[in-house]
Amino acid sequence: MKTYNVGYLIGSLATGSINRKLANALIKLAPEQLKFHEISYKDLPLYSYDYDADYPEAGRNFKKAIESSDAILIVTPEYNRSIPGGLKNAIDWASRPWGTNSFAHIPSAVIGTSPGAIGTAVGQQHLRSILGFLNSPQMNSPEGYIQFKEGFFDEAGEVADPDTAKFLAGYMEEFHQHMARVLTVLPRGA
Ligand SMILES: Cc1cc2nc3c(=O)[nH]c(=O)nc-3n(C[C@H](O)[C@H](O)[C@H](O)COP(=O)(O)O)c2cc1C
Repeated sequence: MKTYNVGYLIGSLATGSINRKLANALIKLAPEQLKFHEISYKDLPLYSYDYDADYPEAGRNFKKAIESSDAILIVTPEYNRSIPGGLKNAIDWASRPWGTNSFAHIPSAVIGTSPGAIGTAVGQQHLRSILGFLNSPQMNSPEGYIQFKEGFFDEAGEVADPDTAKFLAGYMEEFHQHMARVLTVLPRGA
């Protein structure tokens, strides 16, 4: 059984993040071939190209964590109809110094939840644009715009509604197939 090492980023730094809860639920619903590890970015300073000549350890470690993943899953809230600044800052760190973009050729998928009816749809479009520029082959479909309501998660942290759980399991299965296709033609380390 071929396994894939999936790094995931949570777009929220909030302790009670509903997106972190969604990520945990998605991991439980994912095919067993996918092995997950969170990539933290909370200790990164605010990026500036002044750092490029001597990239700090936090930046180097973050880039290494992206590059050593077979695929990246980003689970993020929408902030003011875009992505949270902390997440954008982290992506900027991974994209530089110029010519060493860590996201290049790494398959990715984006998903998110918010209490609003459009479930992070606008923020995800911004994120898709960024990942496109960074040459990360993204899963186009299914899209995951998840509206969060009271009772969305049960006491075990699993998605309470069976139809939504089925949709999310299908989303993770499609992500598995997406990374398998991309990595067949673009093997890591080749
Ligand atoms: C600065 C800020 C901006 C926000 N902007 C949006 C928004 O544009 N769209 C939306 O649906 N919710 C917005 N929200 C509400 C978030 O969806 C809500 O706080 C959600 O819990 C964030 O996800 P998290 O719990 O994973 O951090 C915003 C929240 C904050 C703090």
